[in-house]
Amino acid sequence: ISLAAVVPAAGVGSRMGLNHPKQYLKIGDKTILEHTLSKLSQVDTINQIIVAVSDEDGYFENLNLDNLNVTRVSGGKERADSVLNALKSLRSNPPEWVLVHDAARPLVDIADIDNLISSCINAGEGGILACRVKDTIKKGNTHSEHTVPRDQLWQALTPQLFPYQVLLQSLESALEDGALITDEASAMERANQPVQLVCGRSDNIKITTPEDHALACFLMEQQQK
Ligand code: C5P
Repeated sequence: ISLAAVVPAAGVGSRMGLNHPKQYLKIGDKTILEHTLSKLSQVDTINQIIVAVSDEDGYFENLNLDNLNVTRVSGGKERADSVLNALKSLRSNPPEWVLVHDAARPLVDIADIDNLISSCINAGEGGILACRVKDTIKKGNTHSEHTVPRDQLWQALTPQLFPYQVLLQSLESALEDGALITDEASAMERANQPVQLVCGRSDNIKITTPEDHALACFLMEQQQK
């Protein structure tokens, strides 16, 4: 199969309170982004990796990406713009499938990625890793208005895997219409395209706050044992 991976890595990490983007924080002896790219490169079916990085980013070029097949493209204003730029860079030689994975999720399990890929390829439709919501979820502003029944709620993770052409078109038209797009699946749902929910490990966290980083350091150490 022809499958390219896209890694949005152009965020500034403002919620981390750092003066450099959060993907350059270290977990052990490697940066978060190096861990993420190393995970993806261990997946046999991934032929190439496109990373969307901000033009002002002076850190990326110093990463140790020796033998990885990684190409840099410019990031955009929001995550979806970064993904779209990466997708457009593949236009001249389009892959059949594209797998999008957040730079900020270095803990992803390779077996989960394999599972997502086979599930989508076998069904011939796109899908995402997701896990069931564990907490009781409230809707409201300063006071709870009501409790959202959680039996049908899932937390969206990445990777998210879709047919390349359909994702490109859906994302383009969603952004043209000014829709709120926080993941690839939201653009696909909007275009009435199927999105399979493939159960993934809940420790595939997105590192956003300093607490997440501390937890990620602990989890990575466990993973590497
Ligand atoms: O900010 P958040 O944690 O939701 O970002 C998710 C992923 O999207 C991160 O890996 C981040 O680097 C990336 N991103 C991007 N371009 C932006 C904003 C975020 O590639 N403009």
